[in-house]
Amino acid sequence: MHGHDLAISAAENYRAFAEDAHDRSPAYESLAVSVADDTAILRFLGSLPPEKRQPNLLFGAARYLLGDPVDMSRLRALVRRSSAELAEVMMARRTQTNEPARCATILPALAPLPPPLALIEVGAGAGLTLLFDRYSYDYAGHRIAGQDPQAPTLRCTPRGPVPLPAQLPAITWRAGLDLSPLDVTSDNDVRWLSCMVWPGEGDREQRLAAAIAAARRDPPVVHRGDLLTDLPALAAQAPAGATLVVYHSAVLAYVTPADRQRFAATVRSLPAIWLSNEGPAILPGIPVPAYQGAPFILARDGQTPPGDHRLARKMAALASGRSAITKAPQQTSGPAAPGVGNCPRGPPGGNARSAARC
Ligand SMILES: C[S@@+](CC[C@H](N)C(=O)[O-])C[C@H]1O[C@@H](n2cnc3c(N)ncnc32)[C@H](O)[C@@H]1O
Repeated sequence: MHGHDLAISAAENYRAFAEDAHDRSPAYESLAVSVADDTAILRFLGSLPPEKRQPNLLFGAARYLLGDPVDMSRLRALVRRSSAELAEVMMARRTQTNEPARCATILPALAPLPPPLALIEVGAGAGLTLLFDRYSYDYAGHRIAGQDPQAPTLRCTPRGPVPLPAQLPAITWRAGLDLSPLDVTSDNDVRWLSCMVWPGEGDREQRLAAAIAAARRDPPVVHRGDLLTDLPALAAQAPAGATLVVYHSAVLAYVTPADRQRFAATVRSLPAIWLSNEGPAILPGIPVPAYQGAPFILARDGQTPPGDHRLARKMAALASGRSAITKAPQQTSGPAAPGVGNCPRGPPGGNARSAARC
């Protein structure tokens, strides 16, 4: 996602962001084009640390303070009259989303593992992607009922020979780890999550709200911590006798390439199965499927399963989002519509222009 390249000016970043937003959010495309030429807003952005000048952080913070819709005149007025308040929100918050629909692409890799499962999600956000067994699934007519009948149904259209699960796995323990956990029981955190969804992203906001409502009935535990340093201590808390699965989705773009390698070495040292769901160039060594624009690659243990390239292809296909399996934004009923979960992100250096959509 463009817009976070620390090597170029804020105006250039906003123009690059506008190009990316063209198909996804006309409202954000138009705002970003206007901000790139607005001296007062650029001056305000210049007063913030470079990593806090991101378009999606500015627009999310404006929505947080103003409500919707944020147009250019309201944004200018906010910067003119309440720049301290706006800066405070931008300094306190991060560009974080939590997309429950990603459970639908990870589930087929999770379901065949020996039960019961103990799950650790690193970069779990609010923990919505820990709740595989609460949601229901509809893979183009292949339906699986979740434990919470009021939780959303996540719809996916598999393309290619995707190994679809017959049932949900038994999950005996789960925990998230995040630099900045969001609390589903906090109205402010929930509002921030919803402000991070871009205008024009179909039913994503409704799906988020339904997943949050389900999570509030039995909130997931997400610990504050860094995936680079705090994973082994959390893994040590997992119950014996369960299959420990460490996984992450749309997270490693936030850490430098060197730190991704350090993280990979840490996970490999644990008695755990490792599932990663990241952009194609994020974890080196994972084969990239031949689909154009595949946003995510699902891999097990940092590689294709030894000796089973067919399965590897299936898993890669499954994880590649729009191209191989399409997540539809509808949360309960109606025809499956194309779409893929994605989120604004702000990688600290490196890969600012990678193809990964989170
Ligand atoms: C794009 S969100 C993805 C959330 C969730 N995995 C999903 O797929 O919806 C990335 C999350 O990673 C977290 N994160 C980034 N760097 C991290 C780190 N070094 N350690 C732990 N969490 C981190 C962020 O705070 C954010 O909540």
